[in-house]
Amino acid sequence: MEKIIISGGNPLRGTVQISGSKNAALPIIAATLLTSEPCVIRGVPNLSDIQFMCDILRWLSVKVEHHKTEGVVEVRAGHPLGVAPYELVRKMRASVCLLGPLLARLHNCKVSLPGGCVIGDRPIDQHIKGLKRLGADVVVENGYVHARCNELIGNDVFMGGRFGSTVLGTANVLMAAVLATGTTWIEGAACEPEIEDLVNFLIKMGAKIKGIGGHMLEVEGVTELHGAEHTVIPDRIEAGTFMAAAAITGGDVEIHGARAEHLSAVRDKLEECGVTVERNNGTIRVRSNGDLKPVDVITMPYPGFPTDMQAQMSAMMTVTPGISVITEKVFPNRFMHISEMARLGADVSLEGASAIVKGVKRLSGAPVMASDLRASAGLVLAGLAADGETEVNRIYHVDRGYERIDQKLRLLGAKIERVAE
Ligand code: EPU
Repeated sequence: MEKIIISGGNPLRGTVQISGSKNAALPIIAATLLTSEPCVIRGVPNLSDIQFMCDILRWLSVKVEHHKTEGVVEVRAGHPLGVAPYELVRKMRASVCLLGPLLARLHNCKVSLPGGCVIGDRPIDQHIKGLKRLGADVVVENGYVHARCNELIGNDVFMGGRFGSTVLGTANVLMAAVLATGTTWIEGAACEPEIEDLVNFLIKMGAKIKGIGGHMLEVEGVTELHGAEHTVIPDRIEAGTFMAAAAITGGDVEIHGARAEHLSAVRDKLEECGVTVERNNGTIRVRSNGDLKPVDVITMPYPGFPTDMQAQMSAMMTVTPGISVITEKVFPNRFMHISEMARLGADVSLEGASAIVKGVKRLSGAPVMASDLRASAGLVLAGLAADGETEVNRIYHVDRGYERIDQKLRLLGAKIERVAE
């Protein structure tokens, strides 16, 4: 295992290039199962989650070539198997999005339930409800979701749950509906940019989908799809994390390759904190003199403030004078990073799904433990702002979603190194 050691206190300066989106690439790679023809996906980040998805596809007897340095994944799903086992699925919850494409292609599939998750309860009732609405018989037995049908038949499907529209649930129903007989209306569809990217890829494969980017997707089923090439969108959460890193260190960073329009809520909050954010010709420049103002943040489905930026924002607020309140409306228990930030001297109390953050003058470096991907990003940011040395252990969590984060931060002037634990 590896850990990251950070000597904090250096303002970040310079430019950083954003990688392709993990959360767009994962369902798009799953969607290649919808055709026997070759598909080429570009702009794929070199991350362990992408590796897991490729491994599962190979286990399903699918031909996958992953050119890691070029960021290209080539897939040919000639005759995929229909069973995704626990040993592979448990490594990555996103493998649940194999359910829709496998069901559409094979009419009979079993995907293991992924099991516990540190960011809170992650049921898949909405996924199951949606596939049932398309005529599938879906049961959970022996730890597997078993879905089967004679044919999928278009219907109206509502994808909004207690915490808003489900992202991967929408992806699953969409991928099933493209090969269904007749028309499907997905109401309350998640409209995250990653879903829009999936829709764009499916359209390139020959799917007929209207309402792109909106809450109502109309899918006219077709009998088959063909191979396609696609470049995934840039990772808005990686970009947002570097924006917050610039802000927390009182730095000046130009972010290249991101789509500023996907980051409006993050930009808005940073500006409210007193950070200057400028959009110029496809770049985002973030400048801060380190003098931050407290804010209240509520996470919401897109276009609201993303839950995947909550830990990074919490880190910022720990060193912002005054009281900030951060409320989680998507994953109400996603606060594992808070007790680790307390080890650095942060003053935060949890009240239900809210963190009440009393900003302190300085954090002081200490060893901390990463518990999940975004929590570890939040801890890295806190370490960048802390006096002295912060050791972030279990850094494999951060490698699931950030390509070479230590290298990218070092290029911006951070004192950060990766060592064996
Ligand atoms: N939910 C249900 N029932 C369902 C599905 C979801 O109650 O059937 C609830 C969840 O428990 C949660 C809320 O609905 O409270 C939203 O969950 P959603 O299904 O939208 O999450 P997801 O699709 O499993 C994706 C991202 C997450 C991101 C969330 C929210 C991928 C691979 N994962 O998960 O990303 O936090 O959407 O935006 O796209 C990450 O990258 O670190 C990450 C966790």
